[in-house]
Amino acid sequence: MRVDVRSPVHSMTPASDKPQVNPLREGIATRTAPDSCTVVIFGATGDLTHRKLIPALYNIAADGELPPQLTVVGMARRPKTDEEFRKELSEEARKHSRQTVRDELWNGFSRSIFYHQSEFSDAEGYKRLGERMEKIEKERGTGGNRLFYLAAGPDQFEPILKHLEAAGLNKASGGSWARVIVEKPFGTDLASARKLNQIVRKAFPEQETYRIDHFLGKETAQNILVLRFANAIFEPLWDTRYIDHVQITAAETLGVEGRAGYYEGAGALRDMVQNHLLQLLCLVLMEPPTDIGADSIRDEKVKVVRALRRLTSAEVATNVVRGQYAEGAISGKPVPAYRKEPNVKPDSTTETFAALRLHVDNWRWADVPFYLRVGKRLPKSGTEISIHFKKAPSVLFNKESQALDQNVLVIRIQPDEGISLRMQAKMPGTSFRIEPVKMDFHYGTSFGKASPEAYERLLLDAMSGDATLFARRDEVEQAWEFIDRIEEAWSAKGAPDLVEYPAGSWGPEEADELLARDGRTWRRL
Ligand code: BG6
Repeated sequence: MRVDVRSPVHSMTPASDKPQVNPLREGIATRTAPDSCTVVIFGATGDLTHRKLIPALYNIAADGELPPQLTVVGMARRPKTDEEFRKELSEEARKHSRQTVRDELWNGFSRSIFYHQSEFSDAEGYKRLGERMEKIEKERGTGGNRLFYLAAGPDQFEPILKHLEAAGLNKASGGSWARVIVEKPFGTDLASARKLNQIVRKAFPEQETYRIDHFLGKETAQNILVLRFANAIFEPLWDTRYIDHVQITAAETLGVEGRAGYYEGAGALRDMVQNHLLQLLCLVLMEPPTDIGADSIRDEKVKVVRALRRLTSAEVATNVVRGQYAEGAISGKPVPAYRKEPNVKPDSTTETFAALRLHVDNWRWADVPFYLRVGKRLPKSGTEISIHFKKAPSVLFNKESQALDQNVLVIRIQPDEGISLRMQAKMPGTSFRIEPVKMDFHYGTSFGKASPEAYERLLLDAMSGDATLFARRDEVEQAWEFIDRIEEAWSAKGAPDLVEYPAGSWGPEEADELLARDGRTWRRL
């Protein structure tokens, strides 16, 4: 993992009251510079390239962090010239870039972008791609490093990898490297993930394989490790003795947004829980790694997924809720039911909401429940992790007649990235009244700058050869093994019904009951 401590003393108070930065502690940096390379994007005219990849590269350029002579070659089926491709990307980047696109900078940046037309299944097209890259690399002095980005549909991963191998493009020469970034979904179950892993493995070694989970690139997700292991005060409390339970919620107001073709076959469990939510859970629950190297961190994360208690069918029925949105309203605007969305089957049983109660069977977490919740068409968008601590002993201020709230540490992944701690305080006045208050850290005010987009960080990491924030083969497979049990239970005869919730609500009542049975409630975002 790249560590770059630029300006170490920031306060949780507003910027105006900030303490002075101690110059002696400024600028600890052990960061490896990203290597110059050619980024080859398969699926160059798709949504991901338009909305995320090109805007991310532009923003890296705007921040002055793009390696010199970096070159982008987009490959897709439709015929178009370099100029047409650049124009199309310029329009999209203006809509989706984090920073305003400045013409002068864009013009320079766009000259590094090229288009290569080919079917993904056409061997000849890969031969021509190789020749074209050699030519461009020579002209631009890029060097021989190559980063292949699989941003096409998952059904194209196999042909692309096979053809890259057949054309010899997967092999680096003369001290250069060849890497592959594989977008999600990484399989649809354990068997397909294993098969995909084997295909990837044939073409690229594990250390050159980068499986994207864009949640890991989010600033606050990365900060979980810093919060836990760069501070001395949290870790001694971080176990079953002091933590009552943990909640993770990923809520979206958006519906399926024209992605029904993919989503119908996936559902919330495969789309969000198998990857993003389990990754966040691992960061919160893992043991301290021996160092901050990619494998040390991933070794610890995979132990968490391995220790996740596998659910039997009977346990799935009582510990997992699956829901689908019916018609409703978001911010006062009516929205249709999932089954009425374009390309969704009128009797679809795909879940757009899932809530789970989990256990991790290891020493540290014995008996602590973990509640995960994810859903589309909820009233608010936001992702957060909340750590609920056990209550203070029931003496002094915490008598039954005046029960106090728990301390809650909230890690806001998005929006308004930050961390807050709820604690008890005496209300000013002559009576002894205790009320919960919040200590709050906001990235925006404390550091005075916006966080980079996840894809910016992840692209730079892949160019630097740092795989810490990418999922390793065994992590992905273990996560699928856990998820498969739930999917199997859901598709078995007599499985509990899919329950409806009105769009714009916090999901089905059954999700509230899941916690109510344990005497708990979901935290409101
Ligand atoms: C994607 C899922 O991986 O993550 C989408 O496929 C989801 O369904 C998205 O909307 C959420 O990501 P973010 O970064 O917008 O919260």
